[in-house]
Amino acid sequence: MKSILVTGGAGFIGSHLVRVLVNKYPNYNIINLDKLTYAGNLENLRDVEEKENYTFVKGDICDFQLLESLYTKYSIDGVIHLAAESHVDRSIKDPFAFAQTNVMGTLYLLQAAKNYWGANGKEGFQGKLFYHVSTDEVYGSLELDNTFFTEQTTYDPHSPYSASKASSDHFVRAYSDTFGLPIIISNCSNNYGSYQFPEKLIPLFINNIKNNKPLPVYGKGENVRDWLFVDDHVRAIDLIFHKGRKGETYNIGGFNEWKNIDLIKILIKTADKQLGRAPGTSDSLITYVTDRAGHDLRYAIDSSKLHNELGWSPSLQFEEGIEKTVKWYLENEEWLKRVTSGEYKKYYTEMYHNR
Ligand SMILES: NC(=O)c1ccc[n+]([C@@H]2O[C@H](COP(=O)([O-])OP(=O)(O)OC[C@H]3O[C@@H](n4cnc5c(N)ncnc54)[C@H](O)[C@@H]3O)[C@@H](O)[C@H]2O)c1
Repeated sequence: MKSILVTGGAGFIGSHLVRVLVNKYPNYNIINLDKLTYAGNLENLRDVEEKENYTFVKGDICDFQLLESLYTKYSIDGVIHLAAESHVDRSIKDPFAFAQTNVMGTLYLLQAAKNYWGANGKEGFQGKLFYHVSTDEVYGSLELDNTFFTEQTTYDPHSPYSASKASSDHFVRAYSDTFGLPIIISNCSNNYGSYQFPEKLIPLFINNIKNNKPLPVYGKGENVRDWLFVDDHVRAIDLIFHKGRKGETYNIGGFNEWKNIDLIKILIKTADKQLGRAPGTSDSLITYVTDRAGHDLRYAIDSSKLHNELGWSPSLQFEEGIEKTVKWYLENEEWLKRVTSGEYKKYYTEMYHNR
């Protein structure tokens, strides 16, 4: 049995990943370590929580003793590290939380992995892997031209969030270079899909359109992002974790660039249609607001290395992914209500505390 520690598995991408791993690999033991911050929601994983090969542990990646005990207790062979503070706007208000979790937390996890796997020398690293899930935002910003971020692009982070992720990436590489820890890093573009906390653009705007609330657009909405359906990111992580070359970095992206304002127009069109409203009904909800400080102009990922080496490509056309996503948020009103009201936080106590 392979024991895999997934951190941040109750979050948006983590919960999609945990579901896939638990269902696809019944012979693996999947341990989900999550602090359940505001962004962690165990209701995302209702359908797998009773599976025999799944264990949830509530805990902080900054708790070094807990990490050491988990590596030993579950004989961890692999780590897929997603736990992070992930919202750029929050990082501008509270950068310390980002340094603590994203930088220090990653460092504690690395050190615990090195201690456990390397206890009897470097042979202990054989067959082990520390996989760090990172973001394209570490590369900084591109002009509105034909350039892309590649794995060779120099790091140039601009927000406290991207600076903390860049720093964590450097620590992961340092543990590979200094101690020989087997690592892989992937840097992915913006994800969208079900179960995303509704502070992020796509679920927030779908919810606001439904409730006839303003859609706050930063600046003139000219910023460009590359969007990837979350299932495609998870498929890439699964592939890289199993087939990727140790010590390597892989960029993951959709070759799918959209100006924010154009993305918002597609969201409005799709949501109005699904809500049975006349075309254009919600156009007037668009409200331009002061731009975000340090707002990167454009991100675009070149994922040809991943395509050429491991045969990965995005599977969904954007319009299809958006249709599915809008449908999911409109149909899962209860989930959205419980998240926006804070009710979801009670679920852990109800499900786990009284056992
Ligand atoms: N969302 C994106 O578009 C995107 C794109 C590229 C990379 N990433 C990276 O993927 C990872 C997951 O992103 P997401 O969007 O799912 O984030 P998220 O905010 O939805 O989830 C983060 C999870 O980490 C947990 N967590 C936070 N601090 C913790 C701590 N100290 N100890 C244990 N758990 C903790 C939270 O409870 C939550 O469940 C992050 O590392 C992020 O940088 C995200």
